[in-house]
Amino acid sequence: MAAALQTNIRPVKVPATFRAFTKQSSAPFRVRCAVASPGTKRYNITLLPGDGIGPEVVSIAKNVLQQAGSLEGVEFSFREMPIGGAALDLVGVPLPEETISAAKESDAVLLGAIGGYKWDNNEKHLRPEKGLLQLRAGLKVFANLRPATVLPQLVDASTLKREVAEGVDLMVVRELTGGIYFGEPRGIKINENGEEVGFNTEVYGAHEIDRIARVAFETARKRRGKLCSVDKANVLEASVLWRKRVTALAAEYPDVELSHMYVDNAAMQLVRDPKQFDTIVTNNIFGDILSDEASMITGSIGMLPSASLSDSGPGLFEPIHGSAPDIAGQDKANPLATILSAAMLLRYGLGEEKAAKRIEDAVLVALNKGFRTGDIYSAGNKLVGCKEMGEEVLKSVDSQVPASV
Ligand code: IPM
Ligand code: MG
Repeated sequence: MAAALQTNIRPVKVPATFRAFTKQSSAPFRVRCAVASPGTKRYNITLLPGDGIGPEVVSIAKNVLQQAGSLEGVEFSFREMPIGGAALDLVGVPLPEETISAAKESDAVLLGAIGGYKWDNNEKHLRPEKGLLQLRAGLKVFANLRPATVLPQLVDASTLKREVAEGVDLMVVRELTGGIYFGEPRGIKINENGEEVGFNTEVYGAHEIDRIARVAFETARKRRGKLCSVDKANVLEASVLWRKRVTALAAEYPDVELSHMYVDNAAMQLVRDPKQFDTIVTNNIFGDILSDEASMITGSIGMLPSASLSDSGPGLFEPIHGSAPDIAGQDKANPLATILSAAMLLRYGLGEEKAAKRIEDAVLVALNKGFRTGDIYSAGNKLVGCKEMGEEVLKSVDSQVPASV
């Protein structure tokens, strides 16, 4: 499954309040051939840098995207829009109308991260996180793919023993627009005893389970053919239905080996023997938790990209790490998760497999040369900042042979 491939380019109208923030650029970064050949493909990309380290990592990923694209005859127009805390500061809401419109009109969306101390005590509807949830809902990106791969170069960065971590290559398929994150009723109220109670609803319709399960079966089919559905069917009705629907669909995918696991056991198995997993499919909240856990097996959450896809329309691509306000603006962030998210954007969002591969190869080359940001540093390697790591990846893309020019 891939997000819809749109080739029509529509200009996005930006009101005056936004002009100071938004930047549009279509001037390619260090392009090899200045004049676009007739075969050149063009895409509109919405960049949502967000907060904390978001702007640093997105600006690097943008350059890498542009460079890898230029080697494959692909050009981009970028439009930068505010989201999260940046949008709250600018216009008082975490997801301005103009931002969601721009995102919907583009071919793909690349997001940095949202959130920061400054907005931590805001009311719920004025928190940066709300902007991200509204964006996911607005784009209807129900399928969130979160790969966790232990690269041989980084196996010593894992907190797990080498023999446990080595060779781990799994994919968490997380349902992203339903479940307890969005379920009604929800709220905080005073109950009949006069006590304050907080409540949320874990709810899944059959169609929501079926569509995410299909994405997961298809994903497993393209990988090693194993799918583990994670739920809490021993306690939750929503999970009972989840298990029933996933089991029923298995008949359509006889080539995929399906298993089921309770989420508490899955959390344990992930650190006990992560290599038993190929593809995991789970609901919104379990996927949130398990994908963070899976990320640490790989050494650093700073390495992991994600793709969020809808049935049609643009996909949303973002690193799974947060805004890391403690290191923001200090050139210490690891840009690789966002760079790898740009690769996912090319592969899953635009169907540009070759350009995606160029980025992934370039990341491996930079790691092979020993370049490491602080989060993945181990003795004997070269400690670099965010910018230098980005430069190294760009150099590696640059040294690749152009496709057909
Ligand atoms: C994630 C994040 C978000 C989530 C937050 C920031 C709302 O943790 O993308 O995993 O819970 O989905
Ligand atoms: Mg999370």
